[in-house]
Amino acid sequence: MASLNTFVRQLRPDREERRESIPLPDEQRHASWLSAFRTVRNETERRAAPLSPEDQIIQSMPDASPAKWHRAHTTWFFEQFLLRPHRPGYKTFDPCFAYLFNSYYVAAGPRHERPKRGLITRPDAHEVAAYRAHMDAAIEEAIDGADAASLDSLVPILEIGLNHEQQHQELMLTDILHAFSQNPTAPAYDPDWHLPATSHGGPDSAPLEGEIYAIGYDGGGFSFDNESPRHEVLLQDSRIGRHLVTNGEWLEFMAQGGYAEPSLWLSDGWATAQAEGWTAPGYWRLVDGAWLTMTLAGLRPVDPAAAVCHVSYYEADAYARFIGKHLPTEAEWEVATRQGLLDDAFGIVWQWTRSAYSAYPGYRAAPGALGEYNGKFMVNQLVLRGSSLATPDGHSRHSYRNFFYPYHRWQFTGLRLVEYP
Ligand SMILES: [Fe+2]
Repeated sequence: MASLNTFVRQLRPDREERRESIPLPDEQRHASWLSAFRTVRNETERRAAPLSPEDQIIQSMPDASPAKWHRAHTTWFFEQFLLRPHRPGYKTFDPCFAYLFNSYYVAAGPRHERPKRGLITRPDAHEVAAYRAHMDAAIEEAIDGADAASLDSLVPILEIGLNHEQQHQELMLTDILHAFSQNPTAPAYDPDWHLPATSHGGPDSAPLEGEIYAIGYDGGGFSFDNESPRHEVLLQDSRIGRHLVTNGEWLEFMAQGGYAEPSLWLSDGWATAQAEGWTAPGYWRLVDGAWLTMTLAGLRPVDPAAAVCHVSYYEADAYARFIGKHLPTEAEWEVATRQGLLDDAFGIVWQWTRSAYSAYPGYRAAPGALGEYNGKFMVNQLVLRGSSLATPDGHSRHSYRNFFYPYHRWQFTGLRLVEYP
């Protein structure tokens, strides 16, 4: 297997990357979509390759899923939403798999309980590999045999299926990292992995002029429905942090008693920090007086110059209060990055914003099961912007809206700050 660093370099755009829709002559469209399909499917297998069958079955907490489940679920997605509706003669690989590998699509039928995904020892990893191979052949046949009109009807589902699988590629790494962090031997996913370097130097912040701006999906390339409709927002004058908050800065927060001072914390955040015994970011361990952190390369010393990672929204908010600044809104983040004001906007850590994950003005989820993809989660979560070291190549854009609950910290999550005059 090529080192993870090989594809981490590919994953880390210096600027926004966008996977354009493919406006090609008809004779090239089939080849382009076949290539895109194979690239994404192969990337999933590449990420799974370092994992043993035992690694692939583990579910270390209800929010995380086994790698084998990710491989099967992304395959079921194509079977359920592309082949069954669009290929009338398609023969289901195994009728049980819809129950085992449907995640949350109520309209697609009953499903296995999420917290019990780690109990699915059968089908085993070899059977899941056979399922993936069966699906790959069926999809490739569907693309190959489609006339222009049929391809037009396949492409929207194919494209969302590929973007869906890329989201699970990131989860495969965050979930196995959580599992390995529970192992006393702290296994390495890839011993050669290292954190991408962050930028340094230059001004600490950049001015963001108070004005009306448009945010959201601006056409060209794929987007998820939650990035639309594009709409206007009014921003206040502010100065937004060019750099991500670093481990060194976080160590100062800890040294100054940041985790012990309730006045810095939201009530829910303080309750969570107390209940969970938080005294440092996720995966940090104090060993012989030195802070180590669990990484994809196993336990490594905390690098003061690196971006802080595995912090929850609650911690990010407390840190902002400690510094006397704020987390940016998602609109501030998007406008600032479209203006080129932010360093390391993409490819290192997702950045918490203080924006609630809710519908943009006029948003309606699509009818049917695929309408459940994003819309039904638009409550009680916070928006994160940018992308992380685990985000696949071509899956980052200015308008992308990630979202997690404020107590979550097993994703690659960090922060930058904003201040107002
Ligand atoms: Fe999914």
